[in-house]
Amino acid sequence: MESFEPSATLGERLSGAARVLVLTGAGVSAESGLATFRGPGGLWEGLDPTRLATREAFERDPVTVWRFYAWRRSQAAAASPNAAHRAIAALERSRPAVDVVTQNVDGLLERAGCRRVILLHGTLWRLRCTAEGTEAEDQRGELGPLPPRCACGAILRPAVVWFGEPLPAGAYGEAEAAARHADLVLVVGTSGLVVPAALLPEIALAGGAYVVEVNPERTALSPRVQERLAGPAGEILPLLVEAAGFPREPAP
Ligand code: OAD
Repeated sequence: MESFEPSATLGERLSGAARVLVLTGAGVSAESGLATFRGPGGLWEGLDPTRLATREAFERDPVTVWRFYAWRRSQAAAASPNAAHRAIAALERSRPAVDVVTQNVDGLLERAGCRRVILLHGTLWRLRCTAEGTEAEDQRGELGPLPPRCACGAILRPAVVWFGEPLPAGAYGEAEAAARHADLVLVVGTSGLVVPAALLPEIALAGGAYVVEVNPERTALSPRVQERLAGPAGEILPLLVEAAGFPREPAP
């Protein structure tokens, strides 16, 4: 089933579900002005991920990789959460048992008011020592052009997941449990091409969940879901949250 406007029946499902999972990807931040990765205008259209988003690239050319992440950090710092982030935060705050899982590293769900976000691909807002593995928050909007150093002397890297790296300890396990136990899943703004995140909707489907995709474009997941809401998340999610009887915006 495909539509733009969420039906009243879907609203009832969302308010009545015992456990809800919201899985987001870069598309949820598109309306905040942050580029997605794939498709027209996507970051990986003009840039080579093997030179910018792997550990080998950072070891070979730390300055280029650091500058790419410093640029993305400044973009994220300059962006504001949009109506989709706020609707997800409103949902999480309005009803129990909502798990919010994201592949995004921009921090916009947290800034919209989500209390707990399972970060599958880490975050731009923490730095990790390349020698000791220790992490610390770093909330500066602007980073310098060179990777800073840890007190131990080693260089720091962004605490994000690069291609070929394992996901942060615990995050995938938590997300997988959320997918197994969910009875309603919203898959929002992801192409579903990067594993293991892309496995989560399949795990939920295998467990009998009702899976809804919110994405203006069809993806490999589209033929598998029970329902598609074909449009921008910033327009659709507030309507959906409202159809479920919840406020569209998180309480201040
Ligand atoms: P992609 O760029 O692969 O996919 C973004 C999806 O968002 C596409 O399916 C778009 O159709 C959809 N989209 C665009 N605008 C939208 C809107 N306004 N509302 C809803 N959907 C919209 O991004 P991800 O699937 O998040 O990983 O990419 C997954 C991972 O690949 C990223 O976390 C990153 C990337 O390489 C790493 O860097 C490890």
